[in-house]
Amino acid sequence: MSKIHQIQIQITVFETENELSKEDLFLLHEARKATERAYAPYSEFSVGAAIQLQNGEVVLGSNQENAAYPSGLCAERTAIFSASVQFPNEIIETIAIAAKPKEAIDFIAISPCGSCRQVMSEYENKQEKSIRVIMEGESKSIYILSSIADLLPLKFTKESLKL
Ligand code: THU
Repeated sequence: MSKIHQIQIQITVFETENELSKEDLFLLHEARKATERAYAPYSEFSVGAAIQLQNGEVVLGSNQENAAYPSGLCAERTAIFSASVQFPNEIIETIAIAAKPKEAIDFIAISPCGSCRQVMSEYENKQEKSIRVIMEGESKSIYILSSIADLLPLKFTKESLKL
């Protein structure tokens, strides 16, 4: 007999950025600033990520594209790999993500791609502590998730490799 499992995730939606805490608003602004460091001549879609570490440091990332398209990398992975190199084993508290296409005057809704979810999930599992996610939602709203796991149900982890 088959059963249906429902998976629920929780997203806190803020109508405007003014409702965010001072710390979250700062990190979102850092992610927006990081879009200016994108190298996105092919898609003209600039993405920025800002990671808040427990030691107080903020590590930025932006998408870095390449003429050989798949060789490029998303902002989230650029940021999280950079954090892992510069501050190995430091706890990642929050990642904020922002995106700005070339023609848009303002920032738009953004949600991390599947590969970035997988990579962020790896570090969340490694540190055994949830990583919060702040991202731009629709109509100037802001979405906050309390864990990467919420973005990746039925995730593949190192446990999956155990035979
Ligand atoms: N991109 C990111 O950097 N992060 C995302 O979450 C989605 C997509 C980048 C990859 C590529 O450089 C451009 O946006 C268009 O897909």
